[in-house]
Parts: sequence; C-alpha cells; structure tokens
Amino acid sequence: MKALILAGGMGTRLRPLTFSTPKPLLPLLGRPMVMHIIDSLPGEVDTVVLAVSYMKDQLEDFFRKNDCGRRVVLVNEDEPLGTGGAIRNVRQHLDDTFFCFNGDIISSLDLSDLLSFHKRHGGIGTLSLWQVPDPSAFGVVGLDRDRIIDFQEKPVPGRAISDLINAGVYVFQPELLDHIPPGVVSLERQVFPKILDKGMHGYRFQGYWVDCGTPESYLRAQSELLEHGRSLNNAFVQGSKVIGLNYLDRANLKGCVVGPHVCALPGSSVADGSVVERSVLMEGATVGKDCTVKDCLLGPGAKVDDGKSVQGKVLAYFQ
Ligand code: GTP
Repeated sequence: MKALILAGGMGTRLRPLTFSTPKPLLPLLGRPMVMHIIDSLPGEVDTVVLAVSYMKDQLEDFFRKNDCGRRVVLVNEDEPLGTGGAIRNVRQHLDDTFFCFNGDIISSLDLSDLLSFHKRHGGIGTLSLWQVPDPSAFGVVGLDRDRIIDFQEKPVPGRAISDLINAGVYVFQPELLDHIPPGVVSLERQVFPKILDKGMHGYRFQGYWVDCGTPESYLRAQSELLEHGRSLNNAFVQGSKVIGLNYLDRANLKGCVVGPHVCALPGSSVADGSVVERSVLMEGATVGKDCTVKDCLLGPGAKVDDGKSVQGKVLAYFQ
C-alpha cells in the first residue's frame, strides 16, 4: 500500500525558519516533522510518495541519507500545484487505495482503524475529522451519520455547519484522480465539494491533533508529544533547574531555569540567570545570560543576547 505525503508547500507562516529548512524537515523533539508521520504508518504501507516542490533538494538529500524502512519516492512539481494538483502530479504511483497526508499534521490518529473504516464504508474517500470549539479558521465538514454531506471553508464565526474540521489525513480510492483537473488545484476547495456524490465519509477520533503550520501550533504539537510520553533529559545540567516535561538532548544548561515544554537540541545552550519556557532551541541555538525566553522558536544557530527578554518570537541565525 502507498502513502502520499503532501510536502511541497512553502511554509510561509513559519518564516524565517522555512527560509533555510523546508517545513517537513523542521524538527519536532529532534525528529523531522515528516518522520513523525512516516513512523506512524501501518505495516502494510511499503511505499511513501512525497509530493515535493519548495526546497526539494534538502528533502531528497535527507531521504538519501536516512533509511526510514520503506521505499521512498519523491515527485517534484516545478511550481507548487496546490494540494489537489500535487496529487494529480503523482498519479502514476497511485493504482490502489492510498493514504494521503498533509505533511504538517501531528496526531494520535490510529491509521489502521481509519483504513478499516474506509473499507467498511466504501466510497471514493474518507476524511479524518477533528472536533474544535471554534472551527472558523478551518475547513468544516457537515455529516449525516458517517457520510459527508457538505463542506464549508473558514466559516464566519457562529455560522459554521458543524464543529468538525478536516484533519488533513485521508484514505482515497484512485478514482479521486479522475476528478482533479490539470494545473494548480486546491483539493479542499475545488475537488471535495464536487465529489460528494461519489461517497465521502468522515472518521472522528479522540486524543490529539495539531496542524503545525504556525509558530503557536508548532509549540502546541511539541507540548502534545511531550505530554504523550516523548520527553528526554540527557542535557549537561550545571547548577540548573529543570521544570516539568522537556526534551533536552545534549544541550548545555548552566545556572538557568528550563521548562516546562522546552526542546533543546544538541549544541544549544542557556547561560547563567536565564529562564526558558515552552520553546524550541534547535541545534546550536544560544540563550545568553539573564534572558527570558517564552513561547519562542529559535532556529539552528539563532542567538538571544545577554539580558534580552523575548516572547512569541521566531528567530533564525541570520537575523
Ligand atoms: P503556509 O505557506 O504557511 O500556508 O504553509 P504551506 O505552504 O505548507 O501550506 P499549508 O499549510 O496549507 O499546506 C498543507 C500541506 O500541504 C503541507 O504539508 C504542505 O507542504 C502541502 N502543500 C501545500 N501546497 C502544496 C503544493 O502546492 N504542492 C505540494 N506538493 N504540497 C503542498
């Protein structure tokens, strides 16, 4: 069975980090985002097709150097074709029921159960659905029992047809390809509403779900993974206090207070008198003396100078 991962977007909302690293390779607890998806695939998936475009060379390089236990095929779009166009562009690889993922989703979804649900219900596709209190920023799905009867993109607050949103993980039949026109096409806006009569079903699940497309949601995904058992502490801690659940991998922490929900990757450091909470310090990121860093993403080599306080910032080394 094949799994298609849409991994060609520009990740503009995570700039400046995505100026130097494509979003699927940004680390969540030290592992590229896309690998969290690949790790969760059921055994019957033997081939992963990655639809790539933006910074494809880095993705190619990563998969050349890292064996993920499955055959990996990268298919390039010279210009991003949108989520629908990307699927059409890999059609030569899709000859049977396949999984399809937005490449920036972190969730507790049981993919084997999703697949069984799809096989039981039949139809052209199954969408995983996540319940949210305010669906106004999302693609909303109207259901009649398990059958999808309507779609609504980013409804005005209070006008949503339901509180169930498209969670960006699907199972499709290859017939889907007959309904994607050539060119730049949005799967959600241009294809889904036109194939309702082909049998689309919604699969609800519990646990956690995060679309890691923004700095806030990236940190939320990190918190979910930490709360669900992925913490680590092998940092070099000299006179530092570590609070709560964190992922501290060979970071240098000296006379500081770190946590909760901090990820500090190898070569990163926090100096005397600083406080770091709910943040990411990628490889070689440094926090100087007497700083406060909260809700921040520090890219590889990024630096917070002595005495600075930063909150809710995304910093890259070249700033
Ligand atoms: P923003 O620019 O911040 O909106 O991010 P994005 O470009 O990643 O867009 P979005 O978050 O909406 O994309 C959801 C998923 O679809 C991501 O995994 C993207 O990599 C992927 N994606 C979006 N557009 C394209 C495209 O044109 N081609 C391919 N292959 N993937 C895409």
